[in-house]
Amino acid sequence: MKFGYFDDSAREYVITRPDTPLPWINYLGCEAYFGLISNTAGGYSFYKDARLRRLTRYRYNNAPLDMGGRYLYLRDNANGKYWSPTWMPTRGTLDEYECRHGQGYTIITSKSNGIKSSIRYFVPLGESLEIWQATLTNERDSDTDLSLFSAIEFCLWDANDDATNFQRNYSIGQVEIAPLAPNGRGAGGEGLTVIYHKTEYRERRDHFAYFACSEQLTGFDTIREDFLGAYRGWHEPQVVERGQSVNTEAHGWQPIGSHHVKVQLKAGEQKQIIFVLGYHENSKDEKFDPPDSQLLNKKTVKPIIEKYLKPEHADKAFDELRDYWTMLLGKLQVITPDEHTNRMVNIWNAYQCMVTFNMSRSASYFESGIGRGMGFRDSNQDLLGFVHMIPERARERILDIAATQLKNGGAFHQYQPLTKRGNNDIGSGFNDDPLWLVLGVAAYIKESGDWSILDEQVQYENEQGSESQLYEHLQRSLQYTLDRLGPNKLPLIGRADWNDCLNLNCFSDTPGQSFQTTTNKDGKVAESVFIAGLFILACQEMAGIAEHYHDQAEVNKVRKAAADMEETVWEAGWDDDWFRRAYDDYGHPLGSKENTEGKIFIEPQGICVMAGLGVENGNAVKALDSVAEHLATPHGIVLQQPAFSKYYLHLGEISSYPPGYKENAGIFCHNNPWVMIAETVVRRGDKAFDYFKRINPSAREEISELHKCEPYVYAQMIAGKDAATHGEAKNSWLTGTAAWNYVAITQYILGIRPAFDGLEVKPVLPSGWDSFEAVRNFQGVRYEISVKREGAGNKVTLEVDDRSIEGTVIPRPKDGIKTVKVKAVIRS
Ligand code: BGC
Ligand code: NOJ
Repeated sequence: MKFGYFDDSAREYVITRPDTPLPWINYLGCEAYFGLISNTAGGYSFYKDARLRRLTRYRYNNAPLDMGGRYLYLRDNANGKYWSPTWMPTRGTLDEYECRHGQGYTIITSKSNGIKSSIRYFVPLGESLEIWQATLTNERDSDTDLSLFSAIEFCLWDANDDATNFQRNYSIGQVEIAPLAPNGRGAGGEGLTVIYHKTEYRERRDHFAYFACSEQLTGFDTIREDFLGAYRGWHEPQVVERGQSVNTEAHGWQPIGSHHVKVQLKAGEQKQIIFVLGYHENSKDEKFDPPDSQLLNKKTVKPIIEKYLKPEHADKAFDELRDYWTMLLGKLQVITPDEHTNRMVNIWNAYQCMVTFNMSRSASYFESGIGRGMGFRDSNQDLLGFVHMIPERARERILDIAATQLKNGGAFHQYQPLTKRGNNDIGSGFNDDPLWLVLGVAAYIKESGDWSILDEQVQYENEQGSESQLYEHLQRSLQYTLDRLGPNKLPLIGRADWNDCLNLNCFSDTPGQSFQTTTNKDGKVAESVFIAGLFILACQEMAGIAEHYHDQAEVNKVRKAAADMEETVWEAGWDDDWFRRAYDDYGHPLGSKENTEGKIFIEPQGICVMAGLGVENGNAVKALDSVAEHLATPHGIVLQQPAFSKYYLHLGEISSYPPGYKENAGIFCHNNPWVMIAETVVRRGDKAFDYFKRINPSAREEISELHKCEPYVYAQMIAGKDAATHGEAKNSWLTGTAAWNYVAITQYILGIRPAFDGLEVKPVLPSGWDSFEAVRNFQGVRYEISVKREGAGNKVTLEVDDRSIEGTVIPRPKDGIKTVKVKAVIRS
């Protein structure tokens, strides 16, 4: 069953009923001011940091779901009937309802009691505010007298403190209600009133929030309990019921912002009303106006508010936002025979990659915005999906990440986005972490052709004086693995590798202990075959980098290291039909026929074949056939089999999950694409594409009732075959799944991938595809690519501007050439 449809030409997903299985969310903002918004206007906003600068409240795991949002109420003053034009929070029946999620904006349209309403929510580029553009149309054949109420609940900035420290917080809330123009006069803002939220501004904060409306107010409220009425919820505010605000000023307790506007509409008449919610900072020495008062200095914020309360400025800002996304998404556009591929590549998957750039793992419906910092491993992988859209920002991101690297080549597992420093609470010792930096840097150089990044002087552990060239950071990353080999000469796993839940040194028997940071073993025995595969892959990238860097000694060194590691994998990491996963602290293999549970894992099959292992001796195909036999399900490939039926002290968190969920044999959508890519390495396009389709959210739209999460973005996990809810997705939006699926489909199946020497075109397509077209903007040149199948195999020949070339990498065109036409022919 579906709850909406894709409107590809508008680049929107259109939700046609409000009661989706879960709130189906979208993101507002793409620079500093951000918000989450659901299809019923739930969600919250923050400035830069979802924990420390949260503007509005939201209640996770609440009943009903999705409480807290950007709410409006409409009231028919003739009979007292009221409703929410976004369905929540009053629910009830709407005669029409539609929510359009686009890139950085959401439009919710509905009709009730003959009144049509359409609210467009978005954040203008370059501003720290959000606009709600509400258009009301009287579709009755008589005049109406309406009241419109807005409602938000302010968060007292630190979301964690706000949700826990009530003894203080119930006494500190402060607001100011003030005319936009002094004494009600002035340029544009005559008679308008703004609600300011200024909790803690009196002391160390120099920022505040504001909530403004384009209309003269009939009233306002800022005390929650007076607005709602005692013991009432947001679904039946007393003020709305009565049809009159009480003009309250909050002192402590729970400050809110609510405007009351009277709207008289003649039959057929339409009116636009704009709300602006924003964040503003003043300089420390100009906080107050007059200076010796406690009143906010509003001099610099007023012009901003005035501007965006005007429809022409709001419209212009919206058009600029649309153009910005057209530009970003325009970096790669494809037309293939498969609509699910087209819309994921052209719109949604690329958009999700940008959201992971902005949010990392901080704020989603599953990430509360108060928890995790930016992962070292996550950030490097996210980069693979957004580097082509914003190479300059990818560069900055790489330098930030690298500056947290430890001197021994290791990595803080996480760093904090505001301070950009490594996070001491979690520390280091996730032994795969540093290797991802090599992959991230390689991807950046291939995309941008900017070799100068290697010469950047970058600190270690953010310590002044510790700088070395970024190039040396990469060398140290690889050395970190070589310095930590175990009894079988495989890399020691440390706290965990990519699989955060495979905690082979943890041995935790105490409830509540973190599996990731508890270590009861010295870590000298447990080894990871996955890291071995990743190491070989990273060595290959490093060899490419070193070659161009004219460092032949390094090329030789990493090639030898990779060859030695490969030999070790065949000796200790191969299990007849597939790659083993690890060795535990007792020195026993895991992911082996010797095990009764966890006999085969997905990660080493994917990563080792991606690194080219077994392509020549046939083991790659064997390993992938084993994946198909033991791990593949119609909903995707599960992480391992058989699932762990109980908690194993020596395995850690992986066995803490009930079978079929998360890392215990769930379908981890992050590593499915490794198998897709591996299938392209052994040139099996049908299999690669089949796996791509199984987890493609658009292709799963028809089973939305089961899938539950949004059909336009990937989820981290789909419940595996051992689960009671096989096929049900969780943890949508913020996941490495976005980047890796994007890489798998665009770079390996469609085969358009940046290489060190230029753009490579080397598709491995499903046999049923005769052709596809693509436009790729790469290093300032527009590549117009057409691919045709003339034979059943995978042999690709290229003609560039009508001339055949050797191989599959298109040499860089002469300076000044801005468009290149590429014809790729696939033969047997
Ligand atoms: C989750 C992992 C996650 C880890 C670290 C675990 O509980 O299952 O997917 O990476 O926590 O936050
Ligand atoms: C989520 C983490 O963010 C990612 O780094 C990890 O690899 C997966 N979980 C698997 O455990």
